[in-house]
Amino acid sequence: MTDVPPLSPYPIPSGGRVLVFDSGVGGLTVAREIMALAPDLAVDYSADTGFFPYGDKSDDALRARLPLVASVLFKAARPDVFVIACNTASTLTLPDVRAALPCPVVGTVPAIKPAAQISRTHTIGLLATPGTIRRAYTDQLIASFASEARIIKHGSVELVKLAEAVARGETVPLEKFAEAQRPMFEAPGGERIDTVVLACTHFPLVRDQLVATAPRDIAYIDSGEAIARQTLRMMPPGRPISNGGTGYITDDPAGRTPLVDTLARFGFGDVQQVDMGQSGPARAAS
Ligand code: DGL
Repeated sequence: MTDVPPLSPYPIPSGGRVLVFDSGVGGLTVAREIMALAPDLAVDYSADTGFFPYGDKSDDALRARLPLVASVLFKAARPDVFVIACNTASTLTLPDVRAALPCPVVGTVPAIKPAAQISRTHTIGLLATPGTIRRAYTDQLIASFASEARIIKHGSVELVKLAEAVARGETVPLEKFAEAQRPMFEAPGGERIDTVVLACTHFPLVRDQLVATAPRDIAYIDSGEAIARQTLRMMPPGRPISNGGTGYITDDPAGRTPLVDTLARFGFGDVQQVDMGQSGPARAAS
C-alpha cells in the first residue's frame, strides 16, 4: 500500500528562486516565513542599504528609486518571483515595480483586514513608518476592510532603527520600545486598542520587546505568513531547485560587518554589492 501525502493548503512549488527585498533587514521577517513554509526553494535576500531608511523619504524619491533598484537586483539574482517585503515601498510603488520587472512581484501591505476581524474593541493601532501612515493606499485598505473600526495610526522611524540595532545584536534598553509605541496608546481612544498591526516588516524583529512594554495584553499582528503563502502561489511549477542564500546590498559592505553578520545568521552568508551603475554585482570584500 502506498502512503498518501497529506493535502497542502497551498500548491507546493517544485522549485524556483525567490528574491526578497527590503530597505534593510526588515524583509528577513518575510524571508524566514517563506523558508519555513518551503525549505526547498532557493531564497535570496536584498537590502537597499544605500538608500535606507525608506520611511522618511519623499514619495518622489521612492518612486524614482524603486523601479531602478528592483531592475538592478533582478539582473543580479534572476528570481522567478520578486517579493517587496516592505510596506513603505509596496503601498506607493508596487505598480511601478511590476511594470519594471519581467517576473511576478508580490507586495506587502498592512494586515488591516485580519486585524479588523480579531479586534473586539474595534480599536486598532497601526504602527508603521511615517510614509506608510500617510499613504492613500493605507486609507483605502482601512475604508475597504475596517470601516467599522477606529484606527489609531502612529509612524515611527525610531522603531525601524531600534529593530535594525537589535538585528545587529546590539542591546537596546526596553524603555526605548515603550517610548516608541507610547504615543499610539496615549492618543485619543488609544486606551481601547486591543490589536496592533505591525505595518513595517522591521517590527516583527522586536515583537517581544513591544509585547513586554505594551500597557496591557495586546495582539500584535503582521502580514509575514500571508506574504509567504502568496509568494508560493506565484511560483512557476517545475523549475529546478538551486541554492539560495545570497544577500545583495546596494552600498559598500566594508564597515558593515554587523549587517553582513545579521544576514549570515538568517542564512544569507554570501553577501554581494550590486552596482547601481547597472554593470552587475561586484563581489563583496570579506
Ligand atoms: N521595512 C520597511 C517597511 O516595511 C521600512 C523600513 C524603512 O523605513 O526603511 O515599511
